Amino acid sequence: QSDVGNDIEKILLTSEDLGKKLDEMAARIDEDYAGRDLLLVGVLKGAVMVMADLSRRLHHPIAMDWMAVSSYGSGTKSSGVVRILKDLDTDLTGRNVLIVEDIIDSGLTLSWLVSNLRSRGPASVEIASMLRKPDAAQADVEVKYLGYDIPNEFVVGFGLDYAENYRNLPFVATLAPHVYGG
Ligand code: PRP
Ligand code: MN
Ligand code: MG
Repeated sequence: QSDVGNDIEKILLTSEDLGKKLDEMAARIDEDYAGRDLLLVGVLKGAVMVMADLSRRLHHPIAMDWMAVSSYGSGTKSSGVVRILKDLDTDLTGRNVLIVEDIIDSGLTLSWLVSNLRSRGPASVEIASMLRKPDAAQADVEVKYLGYDIPNEFVVGFGLDYAENYRNLPFVATLAPHVYGG
């Protein structure tokens, strides 16, 4: 009964689905950044799996840094005001920055982050995200490298959590109602 498999309702994206998309994203990134420096910026904590699996597929030499942010919000609604919990160690002046994310939901986190990083004098700022939800269309966020558009369901796995759990699942899935105490 303590098996995590009991908590899974439906698998939306298998490990193979994710791997295939990561292969494609990595090939495009290698091509697009040929001959240029590249700094991957992962957004803690959700981005750790994408970062690990994407960066290991790149042939391009990269540097890696991390940010932790938290969006102020009333309850479940994000306000778009973001607080930096851990800033980059890297000076972005003249750097090509690729932000790595697991998911774009409202898009508020990334729209804030992109303008924040752009103000630091980088050569370029782009986004790679494995998942995107429909609400992101309303936000001012351009994703250069996207894995999958998914429906507006709460999903976990491949970095995505519910109350900090399930990040380690190698697939993307919805949770059974009993997990929410239903
Ligand atoms: C999640 C996800 C994205 C963000 C997307 O992070 O990993 O970073 O929300 O939401 P938005 O597009 O509506 O802004 P969360 O704040 O849950 O932190 P975590 O990565 O540590 O789970
Ligand atoms: Mn996150
Ligand atoms: Mg989270």
